[in-house]
Amino acid sequence: MCKMSYWSLMTVKIGFIGAGRMAGAMIKGLIVKNIYSKDEIVACAPTDTTRARVAGEYGIKMYETAAEIAKEADILVLAVKPKHVPDLFEKEHLTLGPQHLLISIAAGVKIETLNSYVPDSRIVRVMPNHCCMVLEGASGYVKGTNATEKDMKTVNTILSALGLAVEVRECDLDAVTGVSGSSPAYIYMMIRAIADAGVLAGLTRKTSVELAAQSMIGAGKMILESGMTPEQLIDGVCSPGGTTIEGVNVLKNNDFESIVIDAVNASIKRSIEMGKTN
Ligand SMILES: NC(=O)c1ccc[n+]([C@@H]2O[C@H](COP(=O)([O-])OP(=O)(O)OC[C@H]3O[C@@H](n4cnc5c(N)ncnc54)[C@H](OP(=O)(O)O)[C@@H]3O)[C@@H](O)[C@H]2O)c1
Repeated sequence: MCKMSYWSLMTVKIGFIGAGRMAGAMIKGLIVKNIYSKDEIVACAPTDTTRARVAGEYGIKMYETAAEIAKEADILVLAVKPKHVPDLFEKEHLTLGPQHLLISIAAGVKIETLNSYVPDSRIVRVMPNHCCMVLEGASGYVKGTNATEKDMKTVNTILSALGLAVEVRECDLDAVTGVSGSSPAYIYMMIRAIADAGVLAGLTRKTSVELAAQSMIGAGKMILESGMTPEQLIDGVCSPGGTTIEGVNVLKNNDFESIVIDAVNASIKRSIEMGKTN
């Protein structure tokens, strides 16, 4: 049987190795955005409780081992914790072939390492962020060994269903980890602090958090959709002698921007350190 007819016989299109938070977010996004139907998605997890929960939540077929889903799907998303990756190939002896496109989201696991496990497969490495859960993720993805332009389009389609997807070089993935992988936590801190100020001024916690969070969404969209730079947008909201420039002045005087740069740099540094062990 030639390769093309083998592929066309596949009814299952995509399989998830691991069915935790990220896999769940991706499965939900793919179904909601009609990229794949639930019949075209399978996943695996070693524990009964995870299999029952994910099957119940998304209506997909669940398996216990990665080897079972590798028989069902030619696109596989590697969504286990990085520390579990070696076990899959060294203890469970998972074998993948040229028919498999392996999309790895395992943080810090390099293409070279993946290639040593599955030299015949096509590999794409991805750094998503957890905002995939609300289909507003931001992912960087890298063309790996044997991956074709068609594979890159497939990965772009999958990731774009979950938010923004940007192709980068593998050497940029540590920076992507700092800029979009970790930054949601910093933004939550900013939202919490803004909301605290609202509560101090008499707003309820709920109203204050909602207003602060929506302002973050709006500010992000302004940057992505207006074509204006952050600098231009800051100027646009700072009327001379007005309220906003007063606050901007306080942030500037307290080194807000250099503190944020230090935080992102610390995350990038940690990502580089962690990458050395994978
Ligand atoms: N969370 C994030 O914000 C984020 C962002 C970027 C990248 N990532 C990457 O995404 C990956 C998944 O993260 P997560 O937060 O979704 O982790 P998670 O919630 O802990 O999920 C991991 C899943 O892997 C399953 N698993 C463990 N060993 C397995 C095996 N041998 N075969 C098949 N499945 C196995 C677990 O099954 P059981 O439930 O049965 O134990 C679980 O369902 C990680 O590599 C992480 O680096 C995460």
